[in-house]
Amino acid sequence: MAELTVSEAINARQSRRAFLDTPIARETVERLLALASRSPSGSNMQPWTVYVVMGEKLAELKERALEAIAGGVDLGAAEFEIYPAGMSETHTERRMRNADEMFGAAGIARDDKAGRMMQMAANFRFFDAPVGLFFTIDRALAVGNGQMAHLGMFIQTLMLAAQAEGIDSCPQEAWAVLHEMLRPWLGVPDSHMLYCGMALGHHDPDAPINSLRTDRVPVSEFTTFIGA
Ligand SMILES: Cc1cc2nc3c(=O)[nH]c(=O)nc-3n(C[C@H](O)[C@H](O)[C@H](O)COP(=O)(O)O)c2cc1C
Repeated sequence: MAELTVSEAINARQSRRAFLDTPIARETVERLLALASRSPSGSNMQPWTVYVVMGEKLAELKERALEAIAGGVDLGAAEFEIYPAGMSETHTERRMRNADEMFGAAGIARDDKAGRMMQMAANFRFFDAPVGLFFTIDRALAVGNGQMAHLGMFIQTLMLAAQAEGIDSCPQEAWAVLHEMLRPWLGVPDSHMLYCGMALGHHDPDAPINSLRTDRVPVSEFTTFIGA
């Protein structure tokens, strides 16, 4: 299959929340990670650490995760504030709108608490993707320090490299709430913080939730041109 251009891959990527069981070879994941590692980082510190889970171990992990969330998902359990208390009204509104759009695309009504919970829980089976990834970062470089952004660049480059080859993804902060369970299971040292997970695979084109194409505010709303 011909690879997409960079702009085609940027436009084709969208968070997919239902995957086919079409396998992805370990060699493919390794190649995509090698490409992603060409991402820039301050002083080339490369502050990313990745855990890739596949095959039987993925099935085992999903079982463990679903047990861990059986009593509910506590978004405050992550090691950093996923939705900081001081968030502006604009960001709060966008967040709410995104949730409505996502559940709407899946055909889940606003007052269907059980349906919303089920959709949220799908995070913890990587939306049935054949590959699950986790990204960690040295605590000394993490929250409050700019290196979190550099890890983000790596994650985005990985998603675009994958998309160029027709492989879909969904970045997943939801996994951060299970850091206590994941840390020993993955073997993450105490020096590192779990930032997020990612589902990787081929999306199910027939799943209604995958039809969601999120919009963006226009450039003029977030850009100030000076001297142009
Ligand atoms: C770091 C990060 C974490 C995210 N975590 C989740 C998540 O836990 N679950 C989920 O369904 N989507 C998650 N998303 C996807 C966002 O909701 C999505 O990127 C946003 O709505 C824009 O849509 P798009 O990715 O389809 O363009 C995450 C995105 C990013 C960048």
